[in-house]
Amino acid sequence: MDSPARAGIDGAKAQALLRAELAAFEAANPRSRECSARAAQHLMFGVPLHWMCDWGTPFALHLREAQGAQLVDVDGHALVDFCLGDSGAMFGHSPAAVAQALAHQGSRGLTAMLASEDACAVGELLAQRFGLPLWQFALSATDANRYVVRWLRAASGRPKLLVFNGCYHGTIEDVFVDLVDGRPTQRASLLGQVHDLTRTTVVVEFNDLAALEAALAAGDVACVLAEPALTNIGMVLPDPGYWEAAQALIRRHGAALVLDETHTISCGPGGYARAHGLQPDAVVIGKPLGGGLPCAAYGFSAEWAERAVQAKRSAPPGHSGIGTTLTGNPLAMAAMRATLGELMTDAVYAPMLALSAQLAQGLRATIARHRLPWCVTQLGARSEFQFRVTPPRNGSQAGAALDPGLEHLIHLALLNRGVLITPFHNMMLTCPQTTPADVARLLAAFDEVLGRIVAG
Ligand SMILES: Cc1ncc(COP(=O)(O)O)c(C=O)c1O
Repeated sequence: MDSPARAGIDGAKAQALLRAELAAFEAANPRSRECSARAAQHLMFGVPLHWMCDWGTPFALHLREAQGAQLVDVDGHALVDFCLGDSGAMFGHSPAAVAQALAHQGSRGLTAMLASEDACAVGELLAQRFGLPLWQFALSATDANRYVVRWLRAASGRPKLLVFNGCYHGTIEDVFVDLVDGRPTQRASLLGQVHDLTRTTVVVEFNDLAALEAALAAGDVACVLAEPALTNIGMVLPDPGYWEAAQALIRRHGAALVLDETHTISCGPGGYARAHGLQPDAVVIGKPLGGGLPCAAYGFSAEWAERAVQAKRSAPPGHSGIGTTLTGNPLAMAAMRATLGELMTDAVYAPMLALSAQLAQGLRATIARHRLPWCVTQLGARSEFQFRVTPPRNGSQAGAALDPGLEHLIHLALLNRGVLITPFHNMMLTCPQTTPADVARLLAAFDEVLGRIVAG
């Protein structure tokens, strides 16, 4: 109970609420409990992916179905979903345009290692949306990041990758280097890692131009891989003018700027870069790009694409280390075409952004009513409350404000009141089907939960 995040929270009340919420969850979810017991016999950790144990529930909640902004669990509870598969379902669950495209393509061939006509359209749509001319695909944002870094190391002939402290770009190994007391340190939680990542990954704090320049000065950085705003250690927005200056520095030192828009696509159809007039050398986008189907894409400027193509042409024949057999399959292409063409549009974003602003405002008002020293950050359709007075400016500050115990308590209490938010930190997304009533339900539940744990 002594974490800085707990200022204003009554420890005894929080403990009592946690006991009550765990008991309430257990009583209300017998079918999920049965599924968990059954799964435990043949699934490691009792779930398909071990992260699914990270929700803070005593056993895994099992899904029956999902549509729009709503989930129904196997016990029949309808939940308003503000997690939205941590962005995979940012355009709602099973959006009609994508479901129809999948049904159409589903009986016409799923994978063939051949290009399809949809691929032509997807390339055109990506170029229009993101302003970069040349694209390739992957099955996840993780892989897209991995391939971009490989292409750019090959294209530049430089060995190093630069990332920002507290970043997350999927499970691409290279990014798991943190600043600990100012020193680059490989993340201890990484399993099975046998290479010293600090030899080839440079890490600096976000919003620190001097540190960025010093790190680039050696001239050995192939690319800077960054989210335009950090979203994974809690949200950290760029200072005004930061990216314009950083972009110029990166260019001056001959490195490429890769913007990973996988989460910041919450800002609009062309991501944060388009919304703020940035000109990255490469863009990565995954998660919602297929409307929920696994797919991702990465695009290059003409100059970097040319250098990448030259690197491939001048390499000996054989494996490039880039790609997987099912990449670019016709089903994925159909899904991306539908998503880009019918969902990633200004008209679809407009209500999501408006509701997200209402949500952020409502969170601020609720926090103020309970006199808690917390802040709220909004990035398009994404909002987050953070356990500190002012928005963090870098990963260290954002990391220090995390409190997994308190987060789990709030998330569990919200879930028991019919509202799901992301299991990691305190992020909430709105999708095109989220309604004002959904937002009101979340805010009412949040208000009630805070009322149960504040001191005084
Ligand atoms: C910014 C960013 N990039 C990449 C990824 C990796 O996505 P995936 O797990 O779908 O590969 C994530 C996942 O959270 C992310 O937040």
